[in-house]
Amino acid sequence: MDYLHDVVVVGAGLSGLRVAIELADSFDVVVLTKVHPLRSHSVAAQGGINAALRPDDSWESHAFDTVKGSDYLADQDVVEVLARNAPLAVIENERWGTAFSRTPDGRIAQRPFGGAGFPRTCYAADRTGHNLLHTTYEQALRRGVHFYEEWFVTSLVRCGDRVCGVTALKIPTGQVHGIGARAVVIATGGFGRIYGNSTNALINTGDGAAVCLRTGVPLKDMEFVQFHPTTLYGSNILITEGARGEGGHLLNADGERFMQRYAPEKMELAPRDIVARAIRTEIIEGRGFEDGYVHLDLRHLGADRIKERLPGIREICIHFAGIDPIDEPIPVVPGQHYSMGGIDCNVRGETVLSGLYAVGETACMSVHGANRLGGNSLLETLVFGRVVGQAVGEYLKSASSPDSAAVDEQVFSERQRLQRILMRERGESPATIRKAMHRAMDEYAGVFRDAEGLTHAFREIGRLRERYQKVALGDSDERFNYALIRTLELGNMLDLAETIVLGALKREESRGAHWRTDFPARDDKRFLKHTLITKTAEGLKVTYKDVTLGRFEVKERTY
Ligand code: FUM
Repeated sequence: MDYLHDVVVVGAGLSGLRVAIELADSFDVVVLTKVHPLRSHSVAAQGGINAALRPDDSWESHAFDTVKGSDYLADQDVVEVLARNAPLAVIENERWGTAFSRTPDGRIAQRPFGGAGFPRTCYAADRTGHNLLHTTYEQALRRGVHFYEEWFVTSLVRCGDRVCGVTALKIPTGQVHGIGARAVVIATGGFGRIYGNSTNALINTGDGAAVCLRTGVPLKDMEFVQFHPTTLYGSNILITEGARGEGGHLLNADGERFMQRYAPEKMELAPRDIVARAIRTEIIEGRGFEDGYVHLDLRHLGADRIKERLPGIREICIHFAGIDPIDEPIPVVPGQHYSMGGIDCNVRGETVLSGLYAVGETACMSVHGANRLGGNSLLETLVFGRVVGQAVGEYLKSASSPDSAAVDEQVFSERQRLQRILMRERGESPATIRKAMHRAMDEYAGVFRDAEGLTHAFREIGRLRERYQKVALGDSDERFNYALIRTLELGNMLDLAETIVLGALKREESRGAHWRTDFPARDDKRFLKHTLITKTAEGLKVTYKDVTLGRFEVKERTY
């Protein structure tokens, strides 16, 4: 065992940092991250963070919107914790220094977001994640949190029914090290790069969820993948929901505000699953533009408002599409954006292994159910970062030291595994396999799915997993070997892709972001349940578990 800490937090986005801040005063906590913390994907969040701050709003109303938005699959006890603690999370970060946009009388400004009954999304122009991440990182540094930067987690160390550390590759040297810890927190974010068309950063490869799956920890609700309605046509860069919150219109090639047909009350501010399906339907039925996109029109908002509230969107459009949204509509298509599913854990982040916790997008508590509302993701990171930090702190009061022999054994086998990949001289390029995975997932596990396509995708991912066993990198250098990192990430994504497709195939209903054209109705009788997928010696095992209901009755979902 090369290193020993009380806690290793894997991932330095908002969730991981918030956990570390909670623990730093009392414990030896280290944050391990494959990139500099400020390059974590939280930095890219644009539109905002939800909180019922006004006297005419309430946490109950926020909770109801979240549960309805989730198509009733969210666990209502977890949603309650999210909504109740939202104001505290926003105000805490504001006091730490986040520069939220303001109303003329100096209060935190809030804008309407999809599926919300009140304009409760607080924002810092269209760079909310950037502001929150910088502030939170400062606070982590101020409390003396240690960082292992440019370290890539390769496995969890399991000792019976508890976790006792991780193995990780130090990217600058290429050495695999064992890091013993009494608790491990997985906070590695989403796995959007399984898809070719995604708003996610290239780093979003689901490394934490994949190492958990391989260690026998179940993943939950993996079939629920969010497609953001408005990504820039051609590059899939996020065009924030805030653009519609500010009053942007979606138009088809006939110049029609087509959301009238799909969500007559909420129009462009229906939840994302509904707007994404509406856009896809317009394109499929021939009412899109040329190659297949619709327009997001902001021109009527006027130059001043666009410059003040959406400066980042304007820059993105100018630099990546050569258009200025002040003068021209933005060509948009839906693209993969978020993973509702993830590591199965409870409201405290506890998994089936003692000492192993999950938080943020990599976790499935399940607070978003079948469809997340915009603005609830940044919120989840801060609220549950704090909750999970407290839970870990309690656990550490009685947790024993890690078993160093188990850590050493795992380091030995991980070194051998990586050496085999590095030294293979002949074999297929990982890039070919990655492209084939993207094709299968974009085509068959997207906004619309059916049994035939999913079966095809499942077989294709299986074949790609076999081909992956024989890839060759063409670069056996140990230091800064990014070919190796990309290859390990690909292995992680293939493992997770299989669970997404399997969960989607087995769920014979349409709910939230999971839309089966061959089963277009929601089926509460069979599927008001969470899907669990566990890796066993016999292969992937699918089971189901009940949804926690309570405050809000399960109803039909209309907007
Ligand atoms: O559209 C957006 O700005 C994204 C927000 C979110 O995913 O919560």
